[in-house]
Amino acid sequence: MDILFFGGAFDPPHTGHSHILSRALTYKTFDKIIIMPTGTPGHKSGCKAPFPIRKLMAQKAFEYPGLNVEVSDYEGLKDEKSYSYITLEHLKEVYPTAKIWFLIGADSAINMKSWVNWQRLAEQTAFIILDRGRRDGQMLKKAVEEIKVYSPDSIVLKARPVEQSSTRIRQQVQKGADISEQVCPQVQNIIMQSAVYDEDYYKRNISTARFLLPLMMDEKRQRHTLNVRRLAVKLALRHGVDTDKTQLCALLHDVMKQAPRREILRRAGSFLGQKAARDKPPEVLHGFAAAHFAQKEMAIDDDETLWALRSHTCGRAGMSDVEKIIYLADMLSAERKFDGKNRLLDIAYENLDNAMEKALESSLRWLEEKKRPIDTDSIQALNYFKTLNKDGGSIDGK
Ligand SMILES: [Fe+2]
Ligand SMILES: [Fe+2]
Repeated sequence: MDILFFGGAFDPPHTGHSHILSRALTYKTFDKIIIMPTGTPGHKSGCKAPFPIRKLMAQKAFEYPGLNVEVSDYEGLKDEKSYSYITLEHLKEVYPTAKIWFLIGADSAINMKSWVNWQRLAEQTAFIILDRGRRDGQMLKKAVEEIKVYSPDSIVLKARPVEQSSTRIRQQVQKGADISEQVCPQVQNIIMQSAVYDEDYYKRNISTARFLLPLMMDEKRQRHTLNVRRLAVKLALRHGVDTDKTQLCALLHDVMKQAPRREILRRAGSFLGQKAARDKPPEVLHGFAAAHFAQKEMAIDDDETLWALRSHTCGRAGMSDVEKIIYLADMLSAERKFDGKNRLLDIAYENLDNAMEKALESSLRWLEEKKRPIDTDSIQALNYFKTLNKDGGSIDGK
């Protein structure tokens, strides 16, 4: 079995990438093509688009009818930096009898010695090195000779120069320039719809969060999320709270709710600490995982937003108005039916602190009746709101 492996940030994937891949496909017949979008360690200096969107763009950009193409999650869902030799070891475990051909450019071949454990990597693969004639031929020749000591089947393929660059495409998107020559129509649509490269913080993040919904959850959960957004915006307007921030939190609050359990635990654990995550009731962890997703995948560093995502499941003492609104809108969204809902909704429009006390009382009572574990944050939150409401005003004096 011959597998062609092609990794990259694909932020976005462009026609230059497709050209490289198509050229490699002329070399031999491959039984499988594995496209591997990289992870997002230290997002700010790394990828701009969240992993699920880069994955979708790669799926669209590298669609080859009749070929077995897989866009892999392996590196994208890791928190730590992924080294190629580890990825190759993983692929060798999954496909022990396969020969894995690793597609790289001449630059990577010349810089191979700076890759961690490059000899170990080279021993497990054969490189297909695309030479687009941009680099010094002698340097490349010398690098290839050294690589071949460990990876004797590696080959160099000549290809025509391609000028595309993801960085330049992102800059062009920000200027409103035409990118239709540089990306395929489906990728262009994704970039436009998700506004994922827009410079405006709220335009970008609200559109991206909205675009993510069908990628991350089923239709029922999407309807719930949109209902939460609707009510959250109404409550924000009523109480003079930032509506952009509120709707961004509403759109993201359940982004991890239907993620695989392993991913929820990993994200919540790296946000909270592994021990703290294990001590929490499992039902509340998707809020912490959502905060991790927002921070890592969307570079959202606004504390209030991150708090609103994490506290929407359990509440906490000292919640901000945005947090209270998200908690209440989640509980009182249009599709939910329970006794006393309309009364609680009226209170939420009148006074967020009173509504939080009633909402927490009601949800703790429900958890007790169902004999479900209760998060300590929720108990502290209820005590906080009881004290606050008894004292007749909010702690920050509003
Ligand atoms: Fe939730
Ligand atoms: Fe929810």
